[in-house]
Amino acid sequence: MYNLLKGKRGIIFGALDNKSIAWKVAERAHKEGAKFTLTNTSVAIRFGQIDELAEKCGAEVIAADATNIKDLEHVFERSMEVLGGKIDFVLHSIGMSLNVRKKRVYNDLDYSYLNKTLDISAISFHKVLQVAHKSDAINKWGSVVALSYIAAQRTLYGYNDMADAKSLLESIARSFGYIYGRQRKIRVNTISQSPTPTTAGSGIKDLAGLMDFTERMSPLGNATADECADYCIVMFSDLTKKVTMQNLFHDGGFSNMGMSLKAMSMYNKSLEDTDDID
Ligand SMILES: NC(=O)c1ccc[n+]([C@@H]2O[C@H](COP(=O)([O-])OP(=O)(O)OC[C@H]3O[C@@H](n4cnc5c(N)ncnc54)[C@H](O)[C@@H]3O)[C@@H](O)[C@H]2O)c1
Repeated sequence: MYNLLKGKRGIIFGALDNKSIAWKVAERAHKEGAKFTLTNTSVAIRFGQIDELAEKCGAEVIAADATNIKDLEHVFERSMEVLGGKIDFVLHSIGMSLNVRKKRVYNDLDYSYLNKTLDISAISFHKVLQVAHKSDAINKWGSVVALSYIAAQRTLYGYNDMADAKSLLESIARSFGYIYGRQRKIRVNTISQSPTPTTAGSGIKDLAGLMDFTERMSPLGNATADECADYCIVMFSDLTKKVTMQNLFHDGGFSNMGMSLKAMSMYNKSLEDTDDID
């Protein structure tokens, strides 16, 4: 380990169980010398394993619905209290779509579910930033990261309304990143991660097939949750002080590929008539 976060204080949203990307970030941040609080919804705290992580990292767990401003204000106030000062880094690792859960396809969306998808998976990021900004809770040169997915730019079969949520999430990082950078020298970025086998990931249609495809398409292979945690740590460290308003692909090169040798070989093996597939 490199002591990259020694003396830094953070807030990590979204660790549910030991597969969660936020869980890996917390473990790695702890090893790198950071102090932080963990937060998730009351239901996730009750049914997930966050207490086990908290014990391992010596972190307090704060219950909060990230769509609720009062809850977020409490998260920042309490975190500054227990950590002993302003915050240096924040991870937003939150996503959920009721349309996906209830199997409503993109051309038959339930709009109240869509509002929830956008609120939980994207607007909550704005709320986190706005609450932090208004209470001046983040230190100069602090770093805020949210996790995104390439469906924000490219259409991927079955990703449904989460694609719209991720586009909005990335836009919020740019818009708030400008204000936060200009006024307080705080950076805001999104990391666009490979498909990863987590609870949220399993909501992606045919995740196993998709992961096989992206593995074949990516010259470096899929990025794991642990590797994503490594990238988050670098983004929280002082080594990336001038990186802001970016969507940073962490996907083994997938985002810049069109066709690979491995994918072509697989495709040639199973050529069948797909004309009648809608
Ligand atoms: N798994 C993948 O394939 C993948 C790929 C790219 C990006 N991501 C993104 O990474 C992030 C983390 O997901 P994950 O894959 O680790 O899955 P995960 O299921 O472990 O994490 C999602 C978290 O969101 C939390 N959450 C849901 N509603 C909330 C609310 N109202 N308030 C606060 N928290 C709430 C859940 O409790 C859970 O802890 C998400 O933004 C996801 O879209 C995942």
